[in-house]
Amino acid sequence: MSVLIKGGRIVTAADDYVGDIYVENGTISLIGESLDVPADKVIDAGGKYVIPGAIDPHTHIELPFGGTVTCDDFTSGTVSAAFGGTTSLIDFCFQMPGQSFPDALATWHEKIERCKPVIDVGFHMAITDLREGGSLGELARVPDEGVTSYKLFMAYKGAVMVDDWTLFKTMEVARETGALVMVHAENGDAIDVLVKRALAEGKTEPKWHAATRPPETEGEATNRAIQLARVAGAPLYVVHVSCKEAIDPIARARAAGWQAWGETCPQYLFIDETALDQPNFEGGKYIYTPPPRPKENQEHLWHALATGVLSAVSTDHCPFNWQGQKTLGKDDFSKIPNGGPGIENRLHMLHHFGVRGGRFSMNKLVKLTSTNIARFFGLYPRKGTIAVGSDADIVVWDPEKKLTISAKTHHSNVDYNLFEGTQVQGAPEVVLVRGQVIVEGDELVAQPGAGQFIKRARFGEELLAGARAIA
Ligand code: URP
Ligand code: ZN
Ligand code: ZN
Repeated sequence: MSVLIKGGRIVTAADDYVGDIYVENGTISLIGESLDVPADKVIDAGGKYVIPGAIDPHTHIELPFGGTVTCDDFTSGTVSAAFGGTTSLIDFCFQMPGQSFPDALATWHEKIERCKPVIDVGFHMAITDLREGGSLGELARVPDEGVTSYKLFMAYKGAVMVDDWTLFKTMEVARETGALVMVHAENGDAIDVLVKRALAEGKTEPKWHAATRPPETEGEATNRAIQLARVAGAPLYVVHVSCKEAIDPIARARAAGWQAWGETCPQYLFIDETALDQPNFEGGKYIYTPPPRPKENQEHLWHALATGVLSAVSTDHCPFNWQGQKTLGKDDFSKIPNGGPGIENRLHMLHHFGVRGGRFSMNKLVKLTSTNIARFFGLYPRKGTIAVGSDADIVVWDPEKKLTISAKTHHSNVDYNLFEGTQVQGAPEVVLVRGQVIVEGDELVAQPGAGQFIKRARFGEELLAGARAIA
């Protein structure tokens, strides 16, 4: 199967030029001007951007969490991702307490066998239960399965939170195995005290979710993780950075050339803590963690993205229906399952408000949503760029196409959208995964099982040299 994409404005993290791309058997085999080659399919990309497919390194698909299960499976979740121009995602495989890592991986592989993805899928290993003489011995073998990142939660006490022993031991193993350590950085012990006190005082509404997880608890844990990673000599990636208190220690680490980086998510750029005050339990839709922050943090986040202090934008797609799932905590905010949806609208929002809004270039958009992520997570240069030899994961992006974001039209199973009613200009026209067209206009044209499991490379010395340049 061959595809010729003609006359588009090809934008990578570094380049911006008009040209043709020839794809053979899933791989980009030629890039040039006015290519005259026979092709099974020709796509006219005149007047459009042609960019590397976005990679979402932070999703929670079919995850048992907070007493329920996220409402997208790997089919609905990846279809939704595809309509937003995302061609690979990396989901968190959770080790349940007492479970071995091979068992946890088998559970996640079963999910993508049962509900086949339409985009490529990789896994991180979320560690919840590490024991000397038990799972600790297995941890070093996880990267052999192409799962080359370890995730730890410094919050959610009594559920998936780990102690500093587990965090530090994992970092030491990561140093040896070339895995990247990812942290959810919040001080779970302090938050637990604040939540229990609030509930004892009868403070049960959604807004108390934010009040009991103040920015300082995120700042403290971010700094702790960075310092421990330095001691262990492990690379660190801080997920869903939401506030200045967490940006500051990352800025210090970046300035010092330490191996610590961070991502943020659209919900922190566009939604502030007042969303939690919405009446009739509408505020329950915005219960995700870290919580929506005071509005001034949004400017700090944009600035951190523009200056390279933060290196990526993921979605943290963790969809729970408002009716029936979020309502589990109607009378107690601590029982509302934590997580928000967003897998479909990351590029829409960043292109409209970031690129069109004059905050950063199209190159930067590609860098934040694709190239840097590919570098961090052992996918570059197979993914994350448009180059001869790379997978033909390509989005033909129409910068003029108008869209009103809505749960009525999105493709996730979830019954609400965090950006409901937002009008954006710019959307995918054609989306290809390894040369297969999966979305064309408003149509899903993916063949069943178009996506496949991707084994990722380690965060080794070679990658590290590239990653140092991430800004
Ligand atoms: O609220 C969130 N973010 N839920 C998903 C789990 C996590 O903390 O990333
Ligand atoms: Zn988290
Ligand atoms: Zn998450």
